[in-house]
Amino acid sequence: MTHVTQEKWSSGTAFLLAAIGSAVGLGNIYRFPYVVGENGGGAFVLLYIAIVLVFGIPLVMTELVIGRSKQLPPISAYRTLSEGKKSRPFWTLVGFSSVLTPLGILGFYFVIAGYTLNYVFAMIMGKFNDLVPGQTEAAFQDLLASPGTLIFWMTVSLVVTAFIISRGLKAGLEKAVNILMPMLFFILLSLVIYSAFNGGMVETFKFMFTPDFSKIGANTILEATGQAFFSLSLGSATIMVYGSYLPKDVSIPKMACGVAFADTFVALIAGFAIFPIIFNNGMELSSGPGLVFETLPVIFDQMPFGQVFGILFFLLLAFAAITSTISLFEPAVSNLEEKGIFTRRKASLVVGFGLWCLASLSALSLNVFKDWHPLTFNSTLENKNIMDLLEYLSANGMMLVNSFFAAIFIGWIINRKDVLDELGLGDSYLFKFWRLIVKVLVPVVVGYLLLDFLGYGFF
Ligand code: PHE
Repeated sequence: MTHVTQEKWSSGTAFLLAAIGSAVGLGNIYRFPYVVGENGGGAFVLLYIAIVLVFGIPLVMTELVIGRSKQLPPISAYRTLSEGKKSRPFWTLVGFSSVLTPLGILGFYFVIAGYTLNYVFAMIMGKFNDLVPGQTEAAFQDLLASPGTLIFWMTVSLVVTAFIISRGLKAGLEKAVNILMPMLFFILLSLVIYSAFNGGMVETFKFMFTPDFSKIGANTILEATGQAFFSLSLGSATIMVYGSYLPKDVSIPKMACGVAFADTFVALIAGFAIFPIIFNNGMELSSGPGLVFETLPVIFDQMPFGQVFGILFFLLLAFAAITSTISLFEPAVSNLEEKGIFTRRKASLVVGFGLWCLASLSALSLNVFKDWHPLTFNSTLENKNIMDLLEYLSANGMMLVNSFFAAIFIGWIINRKDVLDELGLGDSYLFKFWRLIVKVLVPVVVGYLLLDFLGYGFF
């Protein structure tokens, strides 16, 4: 039973901005550059783009179809769409799993969002002035070792997110993305222009677009797919929920292409903002997760106007993170509200409190509970603390599981005609091509990746 009529986005553009806000996040600006660095550049970038085109766009369309067809949040959407089918309880479970996944992601994402806020503050206070490389590493390690500071900044990012969510779709989410997204694009462009004037662009072009295919192995493919799914916010109910607020007259394929294009563009542009300054300063590109929090502050310190550049850079990360955390927070709240279990405000409070406990645990697992590895029965999991586990299980595992079943659901369970009507492509070649990808290619490839995830890969 539906108790509450859902609000709708004011327009396709409002949806697009919010969905791009969801997709563009730490995955693009923090993770993408260092993953490209670790995987040798051009070949990885090409592979990534291919995966976005072949799997990413069709899957974004799939999730939008599930969300919009009954204009219901994921659990009810799966339940209603599978009405009369024997497998209905199973699909309801898939709905549950899709709604739980973003909560697991938030368990670690809020902590990293907290790092970015801490860095904005540190940059403003000039904490990174006159430092040498070893010192920024020490400063980052210090942060990780300080439970109070971590929890404080994590709480700030959580409270801001919960507040935006509690105000509802138009007054909360739309308003927030209307302010944050233009600022995000503006800062990003300023950073690229700044980098362009400081040299290193030619090397960056070469690095990002000269493929060396010997660098690609089975693992690179896994890594690129995981990165693409995470970056496009797939398999985590967010696109589905945002789709449930999408007015019926807006074209799903156009929206999906818009989101995928903008997301990939921002990831590449983030490379162009970061790599030149790294090349110019003779730093290591393959420095992994430390790239943003350890390497960049040293460089900012040496550049003209580096402090301003640094503040802007970490603000950019913080904005990107917040527009993603609101999309990760929304599915649970939307389900609770739709079922009439809580008002939106109460739901935001309850979900917020639960997440605060989880994210605090995650922050503590970096210091106080550092040596606590709760899952010891499996060799891949036995060395992971809570934060690593949340990331590994939700962002790697569950996103694949949910995407796999979303594809099976649309490809094999739902009536072809209903999908056809919702998608609005007509019975064209394009529609058939999309359906083939969702029906066969996605289940095979994502299914394989899942087997690999579970330790049964055969390549
Ligand atoms: N896409 C976001 C990023 O790149 C993360 C995210 C994942 C957001 C899943 C929503 C859902 O950081």
